[in-house]
Amino acid sequence: MNEMESFNHCCSDNVHMLKSSGSQSDMQQYSDKMDFEGHNGCEEDEITLNPPQNLQELIEGLKVIFSKEKVNTDLVKDFMTSYKSNIKEWKKFAKFDKHRYTRNLVDEGNGKFNLMVLCWNEAQGSSIHSHANSHCLMKVLDGTVQEQLYDWPTESDGEHKMVPQHVNQYPRNQVAYINDDLGLHRVENPSHSDKAVTLHLYSPPFDECESFDEKTGHKNKARVTFWSKFGHRTPFGKTGVDASFVPENN
Ligand SMILES: [Fe+2]
Repeated sequence: MNEMESFNHCCSDNVHMLKSSGSQSDMQQYSDKMDFEGHNGCEEDEITLNPPQNLQELIEGLKVIFSKEKVNTDLVKDFMTSYKSNIKEWKKFAKFDKHRYTRNLVDEGNGKFNLMVLCWNEAQGSSIHSHANSHCLMKVLDGTVQEQLYDWPTESDGEHKMVPQHVNQYPRNQVAYINDDLGLHRVENPSHSDKAVTLHLYSPPFDECESFDEKTGHKNKARVTFWSKFGHRTPFGKTGVDASFVPENN
């Protein structure tokens, strides 16, 4: 915070900048020209935001970003990264279950995105899954999570064990991005001694994706459900779990 710093990336006409200029009281500014595809066709639609100082500012800033017709996912990633996790701000959403990881809705993003906290007990993980053509960002709030990335199985593959092509580990405050064009993934808390908590943004929101059997590559529809909404346990029978679906995924 005490040193001048800035960063930018993307194409020359589509630049994000986060500037820190001396003391914490100095104005920090986020500027961007928005583009939902990320790198092309930039529009003259500039947004200026301060880096969020707390979770509420993060949510409000995300609503501003997603109020535009086009959204730059790199900007969203940078904005989420610039939020420094503070357990006091998100603990009301962090509800664990001993049997499986939980999904806890934080905000519905004016219908443009869903923001949720996922809670991973020791060694809990998701199945391999797709993301319903949505943009998906995952920020680590606590602990470290591991992501295994897979290629989509092809029809000609027949029945084949799925093999991860990449393995990434994300510590506290880092943000990962995925969409269906990049492939499939599974997320887990690799620790046997520490819990993990992650903050996920999905745009547009979805309530169904596909879950894949690692041993065969076969897929099933997977309905996504919430263990709690806005800090309150989802009433029994209202979680959306349907016996015809595999109750999975993020
Ligand atoms: Fe995911």
